Amino acid sequence: MITAIDVIRSKRDGLELSTDQIDWVIDAYTRGEVADEQMSALAMAIFLNGAVPREIADWTAAMIRSGITLDLSGVGKPCVDKHSTGGVGDKITLPLAPLVACFGVAVPQLSGRGLGHTGGTLDKLESIPGFDVDLTEERVVAQLREVGAVVCAATGDLAPADKKLYALRDTTATVESIPLIASSIMSKKIAEGADAIVLDVKVGSGAFMKDFADAKTLAETMVRLGADHGVDTRALLTDMSIPLGRTAGNALEVRESLEVLAGGGPADVVELTVELAREMLAAAGRTDADPAEALADGRAMDTWRSMVAAQGGWPDAALPVARETMDVTADTDGYVVDVDAYAVGVAAWRLGAGRTRQGLPVQAGAGVEILKTVGEQVRAGDPVFRLHTDTPDRFEAAAESLAGQWQVGPEPAKRGPMVLDRLA
Ligand code: URA
Repeated sequence: MITAIDVIRSKRDGLELSTDQIDWVIDAYTRGEVADEQMSALAMAIFLNGAVPREIADWTAAMIRSGITLDLSGVGKPCVDKHSTGGVGDKITLPLAPLVACFGVAVPQLSGRGLGHTGGTLDKLESIPGFDVDLTEERVVAQLREVGAVVCAATGDLAPADKKLYALRDTTATVESIPLIASSIMSKKIAEGADAIVLDVKVGSGAFMKDFADAKTLAETMVRLGADHGVDTRALLTDMSIPLGRTAGNALEVRESLEVLAGGGPADVVELTVELAREMLAAAGRTDADPAEALADGRAMDTWRSMVAAQGGWPDAALPVARETMDVTADTDGYVVDVDAYAVGVAAWRLGAGRTRQGLPVQAGAGVEILKTVGEQVRAGDPVFRLHTDTPDRFEAAAESLAGQWQVGPEPAKRGPMVLDRLA
């Protein structure tokens, strides 16, 4: 007979868990037979002692089996999913999903709400008046067939073991573990039923993985898990040392995404959107497609508008704007040489763009606008950041998180490439 105490003790003592032990503990935890305190002890033992590839594969398979798997066979087109490990200003899903979909490739994006310093895709989309993120499986399949792109909330029926475990890890300092992150992400993604998955694994101060070697190990682990389950899985390792684009905050990021869909927008957001679109289209066999052209000629924007309308949103409605703004200014002349992504994420969160506890509301208009980014010239007194909020008593805490976290130097710094490595 397997017991929770034996499983915890094995992992605590550095032994490998058997397939039977893993199957049992995930199933018993999902059913409530293994208590939260037992699972948190096991998560900490995995955090400290790691897991071998076979254990990670078994853990992932057991979490997939804890719930349903979406059946996308009725969509009638190749389905390619994308997942980002999360970063500051990461609004890429918004332009990317319609961009790939306009080439006849379906993009199901089952997303989450934000917690902590990285924003949630659903919070961003909900700043569009009328936009509905709660769709049934039938509506998801119908919209993928008709429009090609869907961005909606993941139902609790997909990998429920992960849903429970992720919430527990969040409160027990056991999030930053490669075996636990890889199995968490891939169990949800594989359960979504796409033919291929493209992973955007972020590296840098604004990401879970601060250094390249860890990010690469995470990417390799996830690509292997996808392959084990017969899903074509590829990964790009991308830079998250400075925020992506010039905005962090819900409606602010929607506005910037619309600029990209209109053929403009910040160069880094455009570069990453196009690189990920190429990878997704290649995974669907569309190596001939040119995503940069579809941004320039309005095809991606047309699909965006159809997607927003299909989910009840008003594509032409004005986006919410925060009631108050405050500028943070430069005190010397020179060039911006660094903007710390994590600090900008925390500032946006403190302004009301994010939440401190699950279930709390967010301010649609709150966030940080980066008026001068790395490589740009400033003069003393120039505004570098514009802070947006409905509640001005938050300005001080937000400005505090930015203090000392951005630098002006005498020489212009050049930002490196967005894509640092590629795994397939
Ligand atoms: N995102 C997830 O879905 N799971 C993790 O463990 C970390 C990031």
